[in-house]
Formats: sequence, C-alpha cells, structure tokens
Amino acid sequence: MSLKHNLLRKKPIPSLTGGEVRSALKKQLGVMDLIVLGVGSIVGTGIFVLTGVTAATHAGPGLILSFLLAGLVCAFCALCYAEFASTVPVAGSAYTYSYSAFGEGLAWLMGWDLLLEYGFASALVSSSWSGYVQSILSGFNIHLPVAITSAFNPAKGTYVDVPAIVIALLITWIVSRGAKESTRLNTIMVYLKIAVIVLFIGVGVFYVKPDNWTPFLPFGIEGVMTGAAIAFLAYIGFDVIATAAEEVKQPQKSLPVAILGSLLIVAILYIAVTAVLTGLVPYHLLNVKDPVAFALLYIEQDWMSYFISLGALAGLTTVLMGVLFGQSRLLYALGRDGLLPKRMSSVNPKTKSPVFSTWVSGICIAALSGFVPLGNLADLASIGTLFAFITVSLGIIVLRKTHPNLKRTFRVPLVPWLPLIATLSCLYLLTTLQRITWIGFIVWIGLGIIIYAVYGYRHSSLRQDAAPDES
Ligand code: ALA
Repeated sequence: MSLKHNLLRKKPIPSLTGGEVRSALKKQLGVMDLIVLGVGSIVGTGIFVLTGVTAATHAGPGLILSFLLAGLVCAFCALCYAEFASTVPVAGSAYTYSYSAFGEGLAWLMGWDLLLEYGFASALVSSSWSGYVQSILSGFNIHLPVAITSAFNPAKGTYVDVPAIVIALLITWIVSRGAKESTRLNTIMVYLKIAVIVLFIGVGVFYVKPDNWTPFLPFGIEGVMTGAAIAFLAYIGFDVIATAAEEVKQPQKSLPVAILGSLLIVAILYIAVTAVLTGLVPYHLLNVKDPVAFALLYIEQDWMSYFISLGALAGLTTVLMGVLFGQSRLLYALGRDGLLPKRMSSVNPKTKSPVFSTWVSGICIAALSGFVPLGNLADLASIGTLFAFITVSLGIIVLRKTHPNLKRTFRVPLVPWLPLIATLSCLYLLTTLQRITWIGFIVWIGLGIIIYAVYGYRHSSLRQDAAPDES
C-alpha cells in the first residue's frame, strides 16, 4: 500500500453518523453544561490581563474595534466548527474533522498542532494565574521567595514558578475525576466570573468619561489590527466544546448551539468591558497586568477591585480547566486511533474519563508553565489555533463536495464564501505574528512529522484494520 494512500486514508463518516458513536466515555453533558464549558474556556488572560497593555501600547480606545474584528473572525470560524460538530460528533475536534475531510497525514498534523495550542494556552493561563495570586497576596503583604515566583530566568533570580505548577496539577486532579464533576465546579466559577464582569460593566458605566475615548485611534488603524491579533487570543477556547462531543447527550443539536452561543456571550462581554475600561481610564495609563482591577482602583472603588481580582482568579482557573479538558480528550482520540500509544485512550472504569491522558496533559502543562519563560512563545497558542481554524474552514468546503448528502443539523450559510472569508482573515492574522513564533511552530511541526513517521504511521488503527487485505 503506497505512502500516499496511507497519508490520505480518511475516516469513513457515514459509519460515524449512521448510528450512535460508540464511545467508552459517559454521555452526560447538556447544552448548558457546554455553554458553561465554552465561556469558562474562553474568558481569561485575554480580557483580565492583556487588554490593558494592548490598549496602552497598540490600540488605544480603538481596542473596542480590535475585539469586534477578532470576534467576527472567530464567528466565521465558529460557524464552520458548528457544522462539523453537527456532522462528526466525535472526540478530538479539528483533529477528527481533518481525519474525515483530508485524511490521516493532515489529521495527525492537526492533532499535533492542537496539542501545541492547548499546551501553550494552558501554560500561559497558569502563569497569569500565578501572577494574579501573587499580586493579591502582596496586597496582604505576603511575598513568596523570588526564586519560586516565575519561570527559569537566573538573570532575574527566578528558577521555577511554583504557584503555576500547583494550579496546573490541582486542576488536573479535578478534571481527572470526570466530566460532570469538573463541570460542576467549573459552573460555579464561571458564574462568578460572569458576575464580576457584569458588575464591572454595570458600575463602571456610570463613571465613564467620554473624553477618554478621544483620540479614538491614537495608533491608527494599524494599531487596531495589531490589537485584533492579540484580542484573537482572548477568544480561543470555544473550540474546546467540540472536543467534548462524545460526552454530550444530543451532540448534533447541542454542539452548534453551544459553540455559537458561548462565542456570542463572550463577544458581547468583551466589547462592553473594553468600552468601559477605556472610558474609565486614559488609555496610556492602562499599561498594567491587572487592568480591570486597576480601573476600579482608579475610580476609587477599592472593595470592588478586590472582588474583581477574585473573579479574575476564578476566571483563569476555569480557562485552565476547559483547555486541559480539551487537551486530554484530544490525546484520548489520538491514542484510540493508534497515532499515539493506546494507553492514552484508556478510560477509568469508575469515572469513565480518560484519567491517564489527563495526567499526561497536566504534567506537561505544569512543567511548561513552571520552568519555561513563555514571553513571545505565548503566541504559539495563537498560531496553533489559526491553523486549526483554517483547516476546519477549508474542511467544510471539502466535505460539502465529497459528502454532499451527509446529515447536517447545522449548515454554514454561503458556502464556499463564508469559509473562504474565515480562511483569509485567519491568514491575515498569521502575517501579524513574529518570526520567533513561526520558528517555534515550524520546529514543533517538524517534530510531529518525525513522531508520525516513527510511530503513528505504523500503529494507525485505520491502517491496521485494513492491513489483512492490503498486504
Ligand atoms: N481565551 C483564553 C484566555 O483569554 C486563552 O485566557
């Protein structure tokens, strides 16, 4: 059997959708659970940490437009995700979709790419969590020894970020206890997070000084575009919903609703927060790491500022939970398909969740956030996501051609134009990323190709199932 044939071997979709998807995972999530998982996985570092610096140094009050633009790009991509989720409701998200649309070679690269996205997004959020906790503690005059406050950087006297490691492992333990258990705790924290955001908007709006919005574009339209690339990171996470497909009661109906619903909720919140934030504080003063809490201190609402810090902490925790959940389900799917060792797909009989792959994800994320200074490499989460979005958008066009009669409970309007617009806008955002991000990405993909050549290619379940009549 030729190399080309193996690389292009596709998962047969009708067999997936013709009946129930057979899965060892427990079907227990409803549409509300999914929306909570979505909002929980999205709203975090992007809004609670990055907005201030981005407004001060890139976009000014025009950050409102940046969030609007990034939200639109994500909406186009989310529509494509929704169609796929309604058609191929199987764990693994963009990885599984690629397996159906493009074949095994590209699917593996997509899975490998998503590991990068989820890995770096979680590591970024763990480090932000550590930063937030330390700033809350310092408010009570409690300071950790410098050596354990941040990732390895001897020049600054830091060697390991202990709070980041602790939170990553703690969340791993919670997620490993099963989907329902983790969503229960997640739900409480997501509501807290939304409550503090609504409170910020509700109170802040009375203190807004419209003068702060002029000049609206101090860095020009270029600044708005750079802001959009950063704001894009803030929207990452809705794709995690699709990874939960096998644990959803009515996946073909619930997944599209949850994907689009959570994105809409988040976009409204983000645009309102950035409008209030830049209306409260002159943009050039916003160069801080906790802009939302800072803005409340600025208008002398100190008690509320502490409350917001707690909400932000809960918010970062839920992002970590959601992304770690997605990461573990992805490893599960890769293991089940034989592209990674089968052990990854082992399911704990009691919790009916993939405990082994959850711990593998958690330990890698803990190590990454604890020791590696992320800096510019945080953009690796964005580059990984952009490639996933492009693949999913193009996948819709391909699947409409190759499987026109497939049952789709949700259909993207205006195909191929809308997926093409999604692809082009992601391509544009890719051009805004720095060289170092591209180098990191190329190295990661190179590593993925080697692993596939040495392991996945030989052990692929599809290849092995077909082997007897092929060899
Ligand atoms: N969207 C996620 C966040 O902003 C990555 O934390």
